[in-house]
Amino acid sequence: MLNWLEQRTGFVSATKDFLTEDVPGGASYWYVFGSATLFAMILQITTGIFLTFWYAPSAATAWESTRAIYLDPFEHFVLSMHYWGATAMIALVGLHLLQVAIFGAYKRPRELQWVVGVLLLLLTLVLGLTGYLLPWDMDAYFASQVSLNITGTAPIAGPFIQNVAQGGSVMGTETINRFFGLHVWLVPALLILLVGAHLFIFRHNGPAGPANDDPRKLKAGRFWPDQMFMDTVVSFFVFLLIIALSFVAPPFLDQKADPTIVFQPYPAWYFLALFGMLHLFPPQLDTVATIYIPTFFLLVVLLLPWIDRSPTRTLNARRGVLASIFVVVAVLIGLSIQSQAQIVGLEAQNPHLTEAQVLASKPAAVTAPASPGTVAVAASSGSASASAHGATVFGQNCSSCHGAQGQGTPGAFPPLAGNPFVTGNPASVIDVVKNGKTGPINVNGQSYNGTMPAWKSQLDSADIAAVITYIRSSLGSNRAPAVTPAQVSAAK
Ligand code: HEC
Repeated sequence: MLNWLEQRTGFVSATKDFLTEDVPGGASYWYVFGSATLFAMILQITTGIFLTFWYAPSAATAWESTRAIYLDPFEHFVLSMHYWGATAMIALVGLHLLQVAIFGAYKRPRELQWVVGVLLLLLTLVLGLTGYLLPWDMDAYFASQVSLNITGTAPIAGPFIQNVAQGGSVMGTETINRFFGLHVWLVPALLILLVGAHLFIFRHNGPAGPANDDPRKLKAGRFWPDQMFMDTVVSFFVFLLIIALSFVAPPFLDQKADPTIVFQPYPAWYFLALFGMLHLFPPQLDTVATIYIPTFFLLVVLLLPWIDRSPTRTLNARRGVLASIFVVVAVLIGLSIQSQAQIVGLEAQNPHLTEAQVLASKPAAVTAPASPGTVAVAASSGSASASAHGATVFGQNCSSCHGAQGQGTPGAFPPLAGNPFVTGNPASVIDVVKNGKTGPINVNGQSYNGTMPAWKSQLDSADIAAVITYIRSSLGSNRAPAVTPAQVSAAK
């Protein structure tokens, strides 16, 4: 049977080739981080595929489907594994990088393996960043807003990248779609390609072995079964740890993103250091902390094999490099601890809903306020369900800017409740909702100057009629007559 397969494919000899490799100086637990990272990556892909079965990327469904995942024990468990798997993967890439740096394994002829490895770390961080937005709860929204705004401040291409990643000038369904596409397609595809290249180069050069000037002179150990055994033990331990953490410390889902609420976002732990650095600089020097220092740091790490060109790998002869690595790690940990402490302080000032409260609350679109007026006006226009539909359309498309009760945000989004324009000439309201509006306006003595998106390509006439009827009759004390789909279709 194996013979049959071998003759036709060469798989068997290829596997043998792959496994019979010498490890200079013998197998060691020092070398397990790479394979453990690979294991975490496979776990992320597997749990991630499951999550795409349940998750629906759009502003109207992202949070709602995440909530449904939280409410199903199995789905919730898979989500928790994906959450802790991400932490494990980032931690393991970090440890792998650190081990390679300490052992001097980035040196000639392994420079490119190092460069590809650093790119893999970056891709992993991008996965963390894009995944962070997907639940579309308060922190997902506001933390991603911070990272998008930081991107926008980058010189030259910053604003362009921000606009592409955000899918327009405000965060919404398009942002979720972009992040989703990056998170499940583009970045994983690049990741797998680069992992392939990383392993290919690894096979080409062979394992670097201990930090010794000529490890090839050392007695070689074997990859199979010795190193393979250690790799398996550690990956299995990582797996158990992820399962245990998923049970005892699953992630937290907050309220659905609501841009009208003031919210203090907190970053994922792997961005804490960056966040901490931001607070060391005065606001006008923000880009130094968020763009220039990280870019400089990245370049130094990327170019390390060319910066540290001495051929020796012994630890004694490399005290300078080792001391620098130690200082960098200490600073990163110090900054992280400091900013975590700061966040804990801020959180204490702004108490959150508990998760039980969040999960118990129905999705916003369903509970959009239906004041007595709704029923009265709807009854007079002949359809109670049309009015409930208007509330739904409003909750899904308008409340993110104009507020759940149409209260608006001073200086940014005009209120629709108590706004004479809204209850005035229906033709003007239809025009604004269909075609959007920009430029200065004045509502009850407050001035606004923003951009109201055009809806005619997003919503059909029935939806637009329903939502206009709703904002004219159900927000605050608004009590104006209904608008019909025919009126909406007739308008330009
Ligand atoms: C991305 C944020 C955003 C969303 C979403 C949004 N609006 Fe607006 N809306 C605005 C802004 C900003 C203005 C003010 C435009 C200006 O300054 O000219 C505005 C203005 C208006 C006005 C005119 C108010 C006045 O006094 O002139 C109406 C009516 C309105 N929006 C209704 C809606 C409806 C209905 C929806 C949902 C279908 C909606 N808006 C969704 C941001 C938004």
